[in-house]
Amino acid sequence: MDTKRFYITTPIYYPSDKLHIGHTYCTVATDAIARYKRLRGYEVMFLTGTDEHGQKIEEKAKAAGVTPQQFVDKIVAGPNGILDLWKLMNISNDRFIRTTDDYHVAAIQRIFKKMYEKGDIYKGAYKGKYCTPCESFWTESQLKDGKCPDCGREVHDAEEEAYFFRLSKYAKPVQELLETGTFLEPASRVNEMINNFIKPGLEDLCVSRTSFTWGIPVDFDPGHVVYVWVDALFNYCTALGLLNDRYDDFDKFWPADVHIVGKEIVRFHSIIWPAMLMSMGLPLPKKVYGHGWLVIDGGKMSKSKGNVVDPYVLAEKFGVDALRFFLLRTFPFGSDGNFSNELLISTINTDLANDLGNLVSRITAMVEKYFGGSLIPERREEPVDEELISLIRQTPERYAAQMDKFQLHLALEETFRLIQRANKYIDETAPWVLAKDETNKPRLASVMYNLLEALRVALTLLTPFIPQTCEKAFEQIGADESARTWESACAYGVLPETVTVRKGETLFPRVDAAKMLQELEEAEKKARGPQVKVEPVLPDVTIDEFAKCDMRVCKVLKCEAVKKSKKLLRFELDDGSGVTRQILSGIHEFYEPDELLGKTVVAILNLPPRKMMGLESCGMLLSAVREVDGKEELHLLMLDDSVPAGSRLC
Ligand code: MSP
Repeated sequence: MDTKRFYITTPIYYPSDKLHIGHTYCTVATDAIARYKRLRGYEVMFLTGTDEHGQKIEEKAKAAGVTPQQFVDKIVAGPNGILDLWKLMNISNDRFIRTTDDYHVAAIQRIFKKMYEKGDIYKGAYKGKYCTPCESFWTESQLKDGKCPDCGREVHDAEEEAYFFRLSKYAKPVQELLETGTFLEPASRVNEMINNFIKPGLEDLCVSRTSFTWGIPVDFDPGHVVYVWVDALFNYCTALGLLNDRYDDFDKFWPADVHIVGKEIVRFHSIIWPAMLMSMGLPLPKKVYGHGWLVIDGGKMSKSKGNVVDPYVLAEKFGVDALRFFLLRTFPFGSDGNFSNELLISTINTDLANDLGNLVSRITAMVEKYFGGSLIPERREEPVDEELISLIRQTPERYAAQMDKFQLHLALEETFRLIQRANKYIDETAPWVLAKDETNKPRLASVMYNLLEALRVALTLLTPFIPQTCEKAFEQIGADESARTWESACAYGVLPETVTVRKGETLFPRVDAAKMLQELEEAEKKARGPQVKVEPVLPDVTIDEFAKCDMRVCKVLKCEAVKKSKKLLRFELDDGSGVTRQILSGIHEFYEPDELLGKTVVAILNLPPRKMMGLESCGMLLSAVREVDGKEELHLLMLDDSVPAGSRLC
């Protein structure tokens, strides 16, 4: 018997940086599926969370001068963090796991021990190329010209004690799992896994690290921390209560119905994950679905691409529902999609403003105008109604067929077929002509009713995608809770005969593309900050050549503008020798003489004297120069006043 339960997960996100629109894509898609399943009457468990351990986080925290826990806390739970983002995007997750949560940490230690006691985890030696300054192991193929890919320095052969998981033991059952049934979808990803990873031979997997500490300690061997993917993958079980007391619905929801994951982590989910579950003697998830990536200009998306990919900026400019809709309507879920603001704007204008928004406002406006808001019970049907009514009846089933295959864009395609058909029906029936003759009132009521029914069904199907908008639109067309269910969507004639509508705000105002693109560009520039041109490094000099430059600390005794010169300032300096030194410097554009008096500056003293505006300059003051937004910017090199005049720079 169908238990009508559905357990769905997203990957748990690395809080190493703020999330971008690509991450949002995955969560919004999972949310739409979870909402759809609830609509279909399932008891849904929708899990998401954060994957907070690992060397990368440890390093980032160090660079930021905070503890790893403080670092992740800010990105996960701080303002505009991951939790805030999911709230903003209206994500309906039932549970949120953080891998630093105590119950998860304890459960992972138990899981690790179980696999160890079973003999599936054993102690061995990790062999590889080691870069001492980076404290990193690399494989031969990761090296760049035989050197460390991170710092470019020499590497050497090294061995480190580590625990290994017997992945090789599970190669055959995992291959069978992939080859039979529909464990991994889309099907195209199956061959990729078998040919690229299983056929070349599955090696045992190194599942502990000793080179850093930010991870779950192996409790029976201090000094080792559990490999982050072992820690991360089991979140799907610990969040239900596996080997912990925090939750107790493991038996109720496991195995997962589907893990939604991005294509680059399909390998972990379809090979390593089932192998570890087999080792633990646990049932396997029913499906792993590997979706494609959102890319920009064909390239990988990252936060460094600026705020074009910042979901907060996009949601503020376009609205949450418009953004959710765009992500799921435009790109086939299994393939990559090229993100652009132009595409976003045109999707909003075409589908949401023109097709859907117009339909809602036209229908509600006409019912108000011709019937004072409430339809009359009399009807007069005509053959032209048949096509629309039959499409109303067919659409939910067609939509469901696509949703059940996670073909979200095709489910929306079906829904918009109905919306477009309803718009066409308005043109075919021309209500404004019918309204001219009182005797046509029953006919006009039929037309309006059919349109309201088409809209009601379309809105129900759109609810998983744009829940807030649908709520408002349901209000406008007088559809109460009972008219918003799946069963109602599958029926025609659900709204009361004398339904009352209320025209409301415009659901999706048209976006002025030129204006919006300019606004986004400006926001982008502001977020990027000044554009600094970085000069290439000059050819090497020897240390002896460098030592020939006599650079010393000087105190500014006097500073004044040189008459008839816009740029030059004349300095009298104490260079520690007891004789005042005169230097001319073209920095008036950046400093007023008064602000430099008494400052501790640096000058190169052994340049040949040079005459400028009739005055002799004996040396040159050192400055930092850079080009910002195409303009040169200069900062005089200044030290704190405790450094005595005459100190040499070396
Ligand atoms: N922490 C791991 C997942 C562990 S699950 C047990 C991880 N985290 S992640 O933050 O790097 O990525 C989370 C998800 O976001 C992945 O599914 C990844 O594919 C997805 N995306 C990251 N960039 C993306 C796009 N540009 N487009 C679509 N999805 C993207 O991997």
